[in-house]
Amino acid sequence: MESLPSRTALATSLMRALHSRFDPSPLFDDPWGDRLVLESERERMTERVLARMDKDARARALQGPNTVLDDFLLTNTALPGVVIRSRYAEDALREATIRGISQYVLIGAGLDSFVLRRPAFSDALTIFEIDHPATQTMKIQRIKECGMSLPPSVHFIAADLANEDLVSALACSSFRKDKKAFFSWLGVSVYLTRQANLATLRAVATCGAPGSELVFTYLDQAQFAQNRSQLPHNENANLVAQTGEPWISGFHPDEIVNDLACVGLELVEDLDGKAMWERYRRASTLAHPPASLHIALARVGKGH
Ligand SMILES: C[S@@+](CC[C@H](N)C(=O)[O-])C[C@H]1O[C@@H](n2cnc3c(N)ncnc32)[C@H](O)[C@@H]1O
Repeated sequence: MESLPSRTALATSLMRALHSRFDPSPLFDDPWGDRLVLESERERMTERVLARMDKDARARALQGPNTVLDDFLLTNTALPGVVIRSRYAEDALREATIRGISQYVLIGAGLDSFVLRRPAFSDALTIFEIDHPATQTMKIQRIKECGMSLPPSVHFIAADLANEDLVSALACSSFRKDKKAFFSWLGVSVYLTRQANLATLRAVATCGAPGSELVFTYLDQAQFAQNRSQLPHNENANLVAQTGEPWISGFHPDEIVNDLACVGLELVEDLDGKAMWERYRRASTLAHPPASLHIALARVGKGH
């Protein structure tokens, strides 16, 4: 990953905001999703969308009000998965807090606005946001530019997880290994190698006291065995690769129980795109996420 703020973090933030505004019965309310994205970034993204259109479509898009970027994001195949994963994670977080978990670690937090959106919930937690330094610096600056002070409940930890271990990153903070924690790792594993992904999972099992939980997304590794041009959401794969964030690896759904067990985690639940949609469709008009997208809930084993 280059040292620019993550373009995919900007896009997912805008998707959550658009879903909040346009879905008649949104699964997720994120009024901060677009405030955290600079207008100049939005213009750059609009230019990239326009550049991919043919001449006639571009001319049509430029007539009337400029909704090019909104239209692109609202119809993007990634949007349902982005919205559902955040809702799923915060539902699981709520359950975890009822069981007494009070540390929340967001790995690859991007522009997740939990601390701004849900101040009362956040105040009851100690929150650790871990992200690539370039993305995190931009986020902190943007929060300040929006006139917000950083809530004392949140601790920012800058780390490039391609080169740095989550254990050492957390060790530099006030994170308590002797207390249970809830970890979220949403939309990140696809950008890391299998080795870095397993290291992150192992780190969760190492740092999290028994009973700690992790919600994470992954892409079915079978997708990577195919020619990239045949990936079901190949348009997004190609787009993000062009912005310096290529999709690198996934997990085999048949092997996820074993992969987790090898590092000290127990699988609680694994939903593919279809099952994600089944769970949340009654609350929203969201389209189907790609079946190859998975969201999983895992727990740190007692014997670990
Ligand atoms: C698609 S965004 C997801 C952000 C957020 N979790 C969400 O759901 O909107 C991917 C995130 O992974 C982070 N990321 C990618 N590679 C990383 C790395 N090597 N080290 C740390 N963070 C990384 C990016 O900075 C970005 O915030």
